[in-house]
Amino acid sequence: MQTEKSFKSEIFNIIPLTAREKLFHIKICDAYEREKFTFLPGQFVMLELPGCGEVPISISSSISNKDFIELCIRKVGKVTGLLHRLEPGAIVGIRGPFGTHFPMQKMVGCNILLIAGGLGIVPLRSTIYWANEHRSDYKDITILYGAKEPGQILFDYQFEEWHKIFDLKILTIVQNRAENWEGRVGLITDLFDEVPIDPDNTFAIVCGPPVMFKFVFAHLTNVGISRQRMFLSLERRMHCGMGKCCRCNVGSIFTCLDGPVFDYWTVMNLKEAI
Ligand SMILES: Cc1cc2nc3c(=O)[nH]c(=O)nc-3n(C[C@H](O)[C@H](O)[C@H](O)COP(=O)(O)OP(=O)(O)OC[C@H]3O[C@@H](n4cnc5c(N)ncnc54)[C@H](O)[C@@H]3O)c2cc1C
Ligand code: FES
Repeated sequence: MQTEKSFKSEIFNIIPLTAREKLFHIKICDAYEREKFTFLPGQFVMLELPGCGEVPISISSSISNKDFIELCIRKVGKVTGLLHRLEPGAIVGIRGPFGTHFPMQKMVGCNILLIAGGLGIVPLRSTIYWANEHRSDYKDITILYGAKEPGQILFDYQFEEWHKIFDLKILTIVQNRAENWEGRVGLITDLFDEVPIDPDNTFAIVCGPPVMFKFVFAHLTNVGISRQRMFLSLERRMHCGMGKCCRCNVGSIFTCLDGPVFDYWTVMNLKEAI
């Protein structure tokens, strides 16, 4: 659904996650519009702070939650900084959903390997809920998650529940050693030692900073996963979210329309994509 319409929405709950990220629970005010609003894992919305500006943000909640959506927002600049100062009850606008999604139906009958760096866990969270809600469709589900420091790990309060109830394996690693951290220290690629991969039966979804893509895709290619079975979400500066402003191009593609989700095969030779 590509739309210029902005849905008046209320932020009714805000959960601080780390020093930089907060999780916003947002509901579209009109009950009919709220019921009609649907999205797929990997899609994003344009979140408008009236009088200030708009930012693209991935939807991080389950698609079956029809009451509200969850957006995890990192404070980096003007709009996100102001969003972080809001209190419950604040009114914002939501346009969308926009963009392509992770093709979960294609993965039926296979293992899913989710690889996230830092904020990259945010769009993968709706994928995790999807996989749980269709658990019998998939074989092993493994999440590899790397962050710079333990204090930057997002959603760790949910890991126990995901591990037990969602029947998935989750492995974390941090780059910088810290007190009270008994887990692994290193780069996300170090976690590959602990995950045997069956290349003919596995799909990979990768989301994180550009520097991570290069090494992760090299490993996945080496173990023999087809490049058409590897998916990534590409972030670019966006303005309109719907193919009009030309702000988000990479070569001939618009990341807002043709992406943000691509298979690796499509973008691997596209100059400056990764
Ligand atoms: C498809 C998509 C999904 C996204 N999902 C999320 C999400 O779930 N949570 C989240 O916190 N952020 C997400 N982002 C990034 C978010 O849109 C930007 O952080 C936001 O637009 C910054 O706005 P600002 O006005 O606060 O910062 P500005 O004042 O515009 O910029 C502050 C700094 O951030 C840099 N910056 C701004 N936007 C981006 C960007 N898109 N990529 C890299 N650097 C940028 C600027 O160059 C500048 O250095 C997503 C971006 C895209 C394209
Ligand atoms: S954000 Fe305007 S064309 Fe993509």
